[in-house]
Amino acid sequence: MSFCVAIDGPAGAGKSTIARKLAEKMGMIYVDTGAMYRAMALFMLEEGIGQEDTEAMSSRCKEADITIRYENGEQTVYLNNRNVNSLIRTEEVSNMASISSPQPNVRKKLVSLQKELARNADVVMDGRDIGTCVLPDADVKIYLTASSAVRAKRRYDEFVEKGIACDFDKIEQDIIERDNRDMTREESPLRQAEDAVLVDSSDMSVEEVMETIMKICREKKRGI
Ligand code: DC
Repeated sequence: MSFCVAIDGPAGAGKSTIARKLAEKMGMIYVDTGAMYRAMALFMLEEGIGQEDTEAMSSRCKEADITIRYENGEQTVYLNNRNVNSLIRTEEVSNMASISSPQPNVRKKLVSLQKELARNADVVMDGRDIGTCVLPDADVKIYLTASSAVRAKRRYDEFVEKGIACDFDKIEQDIIERDNRDMTREESPLRQAEDAVLVDSSDMSVEEVMETIMKICREKKRGI
């Protein structure tokens, strides 16, 4: 039986940082499901499918063969046999992913791939619907969140560090809009699973969040 940890929460809550570290510490595999939705969005963009053309998104998603490989311990996403890791973090892809990920056929395809990954290995999986839909029987479920102001500040600091000009209020507004889209969509909306532990990282350091979640995982493993 594999041991699975599900981490859900809104954009910018620190899910991927925590999930990656946790997987490393616990000798598990980190599965970033957002990257799969991003690869699918890249496919839509490259095929010239418009943001309004949900019918094409739904019918053509079957042409996108998305696979995950692990190279030097890092998740690499392949789209039709091409490594697309370096192409999926742009704003254009973020926006398209937010629009194409609610499409039922897109979700059906990627959720089944995610379930398959968890059947074969101990995984820490992060996303929006992992505890509620992909891994309803996960051993540990965490709902990781932080206030929109704190999440915007983290994003703002990242941009500043990279020397990219940006506007704090615009970043926070984008975050609020994306939360709203993720939480109110019909298909697998973002919500805390009933049996998930809420971790609000607004006033916590990465180390404190890690400590909290590691403790929950250790207790679960020991059967406490
Ligand atoms: O976490 P992220 O920003 O990389 O996610 C990209 C998009 O995919 C975002 O709009 C939310 C969506 N997503 C989803 O619908 N379900 C998941 N399990 C993971 C991401």
